[in-house]
Amino acid sequence: MLAAIRSRRVVRAMTDEPLPRATLEEILDAARWAPTAGNRHLQRFVASDDPGTLRALRMVSPGMLQRPVAVVAICVDRDLAVDYGFARDAHSLSVDVGTAAATVLLAAHALGVGGGPVTSFSRAAAGVVLDVPAGWTPEFLVCLGHPAQGGPGEMRRGTRVTWQDLTVWAPRA
Ligand SMILES: Cc1cc2nc3c(=O)[nH]c(=O)nc-3n(C[C@H](O)[C@H](O)[C@H](O)COP(=O)(O)O)c2cc1C
Repeated sequence: MLAAIRSRRVVRAMTDEPLPRATLEEILDAARWAPTAGNRHLQRFVASDDPGTLRALRMVSPGMLQRPVAVVAICVDRDLAVDYGFARDAHSLSVDVGTAAATVLLAAHALGVGGGPVTSFSRAAAGVVLDVPAGWTPEFLVCLGHPAQGGPGEMRRGTRVTWQDLTVWAPRA
């Protein structure tokens, strides 16, 4: 598990080899195990492996540097969130998107599939392209595909931080 966490890297160069539906479904099945606020499972997923849809999605996603063969759009069911008593823009809904994103990326990696997060995209346009159901908001795209050589690399090479850079100990009581 720790080895998987440490070896996962964003993949921005992908081959055009299709992803078997069963693999995509396995990744989606893993996503439902992500922890959620109040165990309410308000994340929703819109998946596509259709080349035309992915091409259109790429056109409205400046942050999508790869050409994925599949995408999982992580959405939030805002209408249901409100029914459950959450504020429509509750912080925990964004946290749920993050737990789902990490789970999808790690599940893909565990299956030997490359994954790349994208948040730089037009939510309105992506909603139309993906036909996102009413009441859901698309928040985070995970591009999926088989890793290829070359292509866009790591952002800001050599900036890998240590845990000590990121952590302070809370004072003793
Ligand atoms: C919230 C969030 C948004 C991101 N948006 C993009 C994006 O739009 N395009 C992109 O290529 N990478 C995006 N990334 C990936 C980061 O750039 C990447 O995780 C970081 O450079 C570290 O690379 P690594 O995960 O391979 O260690 C995003 C990551 C996160 C967590």
